[in-house]
Parts: sequence; structure tokens; C-alpha cells
Amino acid sequence: VDSRLARYRNLMQRVRQFYIQQLKQSPAKDKAVNYAKNRGISGKIAKYFELGFAPPSSNLLSEFEQNDQNIADLKTMGLLCDDQYRSGQYYDFFKDRLMFPIHNAKGNIIAFGGRTFDNNTKVKYLNSPETPIFSKSKELYGLYHARKYSRSIDYILVVEGYMDVIALHQVGISQVVATLGTATTIEHLNILSRVTNTIIFCFDGDNAGKKAAWRALNVTLPVIKTGITVKFLFLPDGEDPDSLVKKESSKVFVTRIENAQPLSQFLFSHIKAELDFSTIEGKTLFLEKVSTLLRKINYKIYQQQLLEGLAGEVNQSIEQIKYILERQDTPVQ
Ligand code: GTP
Ligand code: MN
Ligand code: MN
Ligand code: MN
Ligand code: MN
Repeated sequence: VDSRLARYRNLMQRVRQFYIQQLKQSPAKDKAVNYAKNRGISGKIAKYFELGFAPPSSNLLSEFEQNDQNIADLKTMGLLCDDQYRSGQYYDFFKDRLMFPIHNAKGNIIAFGGRTFDNNTKVKYLNSPETPIFSKSKELYGLYHARKYSRSIDYILVVEGYMDVIALHQVGISQVVATLGTATTIEHLNILSRVTNTIIFCFDGDNAGKKAAWRALNVTLPVIKTGITVKFLFLPDGEDPDSLVKKESSKVFVTRIENAQPLSQFLFSHIKAELDFSTIEGKTLFLEKVSTLLRKINYKIYQQQLLEGLAGEVNQSIEQIKYILERQDTPVQ
């Protein structure tokens, strides 16, 4: 097993080098270089994140000795596909894309993401499939770079995309990771809670981003424990971290980070916004919905504090609130 993993690691390194080299030498490189420039990616940061280019005619196999082992390994890594029409022929999975190598926490390349240059292409980002060394639900883009110079960090920002991580680094904000086009998972949270005390979710200022934030809150509740604080940074409509730091200074963005909303505040305000709090019916629903969520919390002191918050919101005694929470028949929403 070990020799197999060593082979994959070695192969992924060679593929990364191939894409980096193509960004410098391919006859088609101008397209990629100009794209990166237009998006404000500096040469320095491109180098730091090891960005590359899969040319339109990319043919990875030509870089390797064409034996069965290499072909099988490239296929296992999701980099090579069988040609459906010509048996024994293959084509590259990534073509005509700006390439982002994905590192694991140790810094080994375990996958790639590739961005199209053409915004009309259906698939904007193509990611490596799940492989023996890559599981999307367990990996965070940028974690290796966030921890490169300091092992324990006071906060970590969780953003949506590759470009958000890179743009924030470029303005000096390096404590940032991205989920790889998937929702935040318990595995992600367990990893993050081992490297920082404060997790700040910062998704795009659009409907998808708002939904992702609420989903993240729900996934987070059972995992919160002593010493872990969870916050939410909401961005102005239509902005993501990449677009925003290009409009305003990093200083303003840092202020946004400092003013991120505590989980409790987001929880109460999100549920309030869904109902009419001025009526008894609305307050009833509020109580039901909040207590359903609070039941998921295993961290007792925090749960107690949130119960007091809830009691204050609905102007009832903590005893009444506890009675509601302990009832088992409340519908789960
Ligand atoms: P840019 O347009 O390059 O700024 O991308 P973005 O990161 O702002 O894209 P968006 O907010 O739409 O998506 C966030 C992240 O979701 C991306 O960085 C990708 O990881 C992932 N993603 C976006 N589009 C796709 C897609 O079409 N397929 C897959 N698999 N993932 C995607
Ligand atoms: Mn988005
Ligand atoms: Mn999108
Ligand atoms: Mn975005
Ligand atoms: Mn973007």
C-alpha cells in the first residue's frame, strides 16, 4: 500500500510541474497568463500557489513513460480518461484550464482544480474526482498554506473558492481555507477545530452563500465544544472575498473579520426573519424552531447560555424554556 501511495505522490508532483511548465512555455500560454493578470493574480502569488496551465491540447501521457503502471495510475488519479471510441486511447481530464494544485495538510499534491477561461462554459471549475488520496469532504484548499508559517492560528476564515483564498493571501490575509465546491462537513470542522479556536464562515454575498451559511450553522451545532467560537461574516450583495478585497483595502476587510457575527446572533436573527415575531403564533414557532436547534448542541454551558438568550428573546423564564426543550415531541424542522 505504501509504495502505491508513494507512486501517486510522485506522479502528482510531476503533473504539477508539467502544468507549471506549460504556464511558462506552452504556445497557448498567453491566454492563461492574461487571464491570471486580468484577475489580479500577481506572479509571486501564482508561484506561491503553484498555479499552472492545462493547454487545450494537453497530453499528460507524453510526459510519462507509457507503461501500464503509469497509465493505470494517471487514470486512478482522475487525470486520464479512456477514449470511448478508440480502445487503448486516452485523453486528458483537464484541458484548456488554469490549474490549481490542491495540497493536503502536509503539503503533498492530492488533486487539482481547473478553471475555464470562458465564462460561457458550463462547468466553471472542474475538480479531480474522489480518488484513493483525495476525498472532498475531508480536504480544505489553503490549509497547508495557512499553517505554513504558524501551526496554531487565532482564527480561520472559511470561504467558497480557490480565488478567494488566493486573493486574500495576496493582501496579507493568510488564515483562510476553502471547501472544494461542497458544503462544509463535520470532518472539515473537526480538522479546523484542531488548528484554531475561532472558525469564521465567510461565504459569497448571494443566495447560495446565505444558504451555505445556514447549512454550516446546522452542521456546526453538534461539534461546538469548549474553547471553540464560531462566527459568520456576511458580505455585501453580489460580492465574494476576491471581488471585495479588490474594491476595498485589506484593512477594511480585516475590520469586517473583527466584526463577524457570533453564531448565536445569526441563529436568532435568521429564524426571526422567517416568521412574524409580533404575534403569539410567530413566537410559538420561534420557540419551537430555536429549541429544535439548541437540542443538537452537546456543549452544555453554551447550550445553557443560548437558552438564557432564548428566554430573553421571548420574555419567558428559563424554567419554562427548559421545559419546552426537554419535551420530545417538538417537530424537527
Ligand atoms: P470565480 O468566478 O473564478 O471567481 O469563481 P468563484 O470561486 O467565485 O465561484 P463560485 O462562487 O461560483 O464557486 C465557489 C467554488 O465552488 C469554486 O471555487 C469551486 O471550487 C466551486 N465551483 C464553482 N463552480 C463549479 C462548477 O461548475 N463545478 C464544480 N465542481 N465546482 C464549482
Ligand atoms: Mn459562490
Ligand atoms: Mn457559482
Ligand atoms: Mn464566488
Ligand atoms: Mn469569485
